[in-house]
Amino acid sequence: MAFTKDRTVRWQRYWDKHSRTYDKQMRFFDRHVFGDSRTWACGQARGNVLEVAVGTGLNLEAYPDDVTLTGIDFSDAMLDVARGRSKELGRLATLLQANAHELPFDDESFDTVVCTFGLCAIPDHTRAITEMTRVLRPGGRIILVDHVESTSRVARAVQRGLETFAIPLGGEHFLRRPLKHVSAAGFDIENVQRFKLGVVERLVARKPTRLDLA
Ligand SMILES: C[S@@+](CC[C@H](N)C(=O)[O-])C[C@H]1O[C@@H](n2cnc3c(N)ncnc32)[C@H](O)[C@@H]1O
Repeated sequence: MAFTKDRTVRWQRYWDKHSRTYDKQMRFFDRHVFGDSRTWACGQARGNVLEVAVGTGLNLEAYPDDVTLTGIDFSDAMLDVARGRSKELGRLATLLQANAHELPFDDESFDTVVCTFGLCAIPDHTRAITEMTRVLRPGGRIILVDHVESTSRVARAVQRGLETFAIPLGGEHFLRRPLKHVSAAGFDIENVQRFKLGVVERLVARKPTRLDLA
């Protein structure tokens, strides 16, 4: 999929505009749909951690104290909220403006990469996953939580209907399945959990080491 500068600017503006209302909306979905997914995901992060599409930093409080945390997002307004939250919580984190399509980090530089509810919104999610796998060290883990294509035919039909307006209006995708791309990258899928008619998927996968590949 072509990704022009204009489209980046458009979605950056979209998220800048929604930065003030995001937490209230997302807390509603956390309570009623996603459950304990934030603590589930972040609680498993270890070492040098990168969170992609960190948004307003709703995950910050869920990380273990001893991780070194870097978060990126392309919306400066979302990051401003995250910076305020980081200060308030006393949770040190390096929060940078960057595009998930081209992560500004060296190969194999993180022990864990986390992304929650970001791959439904990142325009080219396969490119973002390729970047996440590149910056992860061999043996490191990718931890993803998102809403994905449902296991129920009826729910999938509803999701298809939702996409007809959610993609053009908010860049929000409902029929993606990050697991397929992580598997195709040769990762060892260690844990997959699905609930709410398979709409919510949580995934932990390990990047193979050179020994695994030998
Ligand atoms: C639904 S919010 C999720 C925020 C956060 N991960 C959470 O769990 O609450 C989607 C986020 O993805 C970010 N985003 C979308 N496309 C991006 C891209 N190409 N690069 C970096 N961030 C992006 C948006 O700015 C927004 O903060």
